[in-house]
Parts: sequence; structure tokens; C-alpha cells
Amino acid sequence: MSKIFLLISKKLSGSPRMLTLISVDSIEEGSSKGVEVDNLYMFAVKKDEQIFLYWNRCPHLGTPLEWEEDRFLDADGALIQCSTHGALFQIEDGKCLAGPCVGKHLQAVPFIIDNGMITIDETRLNR
Ligand code: FES
Repeated sequence: MSKIFLLISKKLSGSPRMLTLISVDSIEEGSSKGVEVDNLYMFAVKKDEQIFLYWNRCPHLGTPLEWEEDRFLDADGALIQCSTHGALFQIEDGKCLAGPCVGKHLQAVPFIIDNGMITIDETRLNR
């Protein structure tokens, strides 16, 4: 998991304040990576050279999803899988396809890619 230290990572100018998370290149194709910002947890998935970013909370019970550090996907890397009860989610939109929260969605985190870095508006941190 990548820990982001807010005071170091903030850009000092411009509005809204943008927060740089991790580089796109730090995520291997077909894999996932956890990100922590001030005890708030997200994860990113790279699939077909696209990045998807979600809060690390299962819509079933709100628990973290990963099986082990940076491992959020099922065995063949096709779907996101919750480690608690095995719910399966589409990578592209976070929709639950199977398990106790069928039809619900993971909550996506809006982001941009700025100079190869996954970057979010700090106001998205849900404080
Ligand atoms: S907490 Fe994720 S499926 Fe139950």
C-alpha cells in the first residue's frame, strides 16, 4: 500500500487543491494497489491500460476489501473480490455481480491523471 503524506504531497497553488496519489506506472497491468491518505483508504486497479479508483469499503458491511496488501482482485484478475464474504464487482464501474450486495456499487473516487500521476481533488476526501 502506498501511504500519502498530505502535507508533503499537496500542490501549493491553484484551486481546487489537488492531491497527488501514486504514479500510473506503479500499478502493473491487471493488478491493484491500495492507497492511504490520512487514514482514508482507496485502491486503484489498472485494466486494459485504464485506471479505476474506488474507496476501500465493501457496500455490504463497509469492511476493507483486500485479501492481502495490494490484492483486491479475484484469482484471474477479472473482477474485484471482497475478502470478507467473496462479493464480486466489475472493475469498470464497481457494480456487484455476485454476493450479498448484488446490484450495489463500490464508490468511485473521481480523479485525473496529471503528468503520469493519479491525482484527486482534496475535497473528495469525505471529511
Ligand atoms: S463485507 Fe464484502 S461481501 Fe460482505
